[in-house]
Amino acid sequence: MAFRETLLTTDVHEAAALIRQGELVAFPTETVYGLGADAFNPEAVRKIFEAKGRPLDNPLIVHIAHLDQLARLVRDVPEAARRFMERFFPGPLTLVLPRHSDVPDEVTAGLPTVGVRMPRHPVARAFLEACGTPVAAPSANRSGRPSPTRWEAVYADLNGRIACILQGDRSDMGLESTVVDCTGPEPVVLRAGAVPLEALREVVPETRLVGNEMSLKARSPGTRYRHYAPQARVVLVDHPDEAVPDPRHAYIGLTPPAHPEAFGACCICPDVETYAYELFDFFRRCDTQGCTRIYAQRVPRTGLGLALMDRLERAAS
Ligand code: TXA
Ligand code: MG
Repeated sequence: MAFRETLLTTDVHEAAALIRQGELVAFPTETVYGLGADAFNPEAVRKIFEAKGRPLDNPLIVHIAHLDQLARLVRDVPEAARRFMERFFPGPLTLVLPRHSDVPDEVTAGLPTVGVRMPRHPVARAFLEACGTPVAAPSANRSGRPSPTRWEAVYADLNGRIACILQGDRSDMGLESTVVDCTGPEPVVLRAGAVPLEALREVVPETRLVGNEMSLKARSPGTRYRHYAPQARVVLVDHPDEAVPDPRHAYIGLTPPAHPEAFGACCICPDVETYAYELFDFFRRCDTQGCTRIYAQRVPRTGLGLALMDRLERAAS
């Protein structure tokens, strides 16, 4: 891929014009930054996989500005999905729905379904509105790296590989959207994320977490790959006493260690929301500092803790 300095801009119209020309644009959302291409331009979508080094069999989420855009994306909207949309759109929720035949195979990796999300971040909304087309976008990191929660992290991973970064503030959640398959008899969470399972169950009580069923694993290809990992080795602990203090070691968690200053980097979070917000940014900071080991404290798997534990376990695997 030819190296060309990536354009940095805060102008949504400039960024949207590039999307319409078939170029790649990274943009802020409330979860993490996305790497967007016109969802109906297969050639543009292929560039995403090339820029990220992403396996071609991992489908992309399509981002929309308003519900009218669903007509060309999905065949129908099941009742459960309709209820989730009413409560959580716009927001950090991705719904897997029966795919319309107009959606390119490049977006869905040939699956009979398509993932759709309507972000609520004001810059994302203005950008998607200006694009005038649905935008296919994975997280804007090199494949296998932690998702970017700041434009600087996108720049570090993708400068010279994409046309433009639409600059915004730091993402306010720091964890990706919850992915829910709505094509079966009951909704199934394929990837825990920023909308907790408990909140989904308030709307559709039958909603369950994906188990080890092969049919559904096949439907959630992204969960097969090593993800969210910094260069340092990630070690999960129940209590900071298990973390070996060393200037090359880092610690992140809810409970402060006895000697925080003995670690090269230390992040004490007052609650699980802050932990989720800080995690990917902390991983990247540890890489920059050359940490060799990151101790991360486990949290209970309730609320946002379910998604946080999923990311921690993947990073440690
Ligand atoms: O918060 C987010 O979801 C961010 C922002 C940019 O929207 N996006 C994101 O995309 O995290 P990505 O590509 O990193 O993760 C998308 C996940 C993958 O695990 C993928 O396999 C799954 O969603 N996915 C996408 N389309 C799917 C489909 N049709 N069926 C099953 N899983 C799907
Ligand atoms: Mg990703």
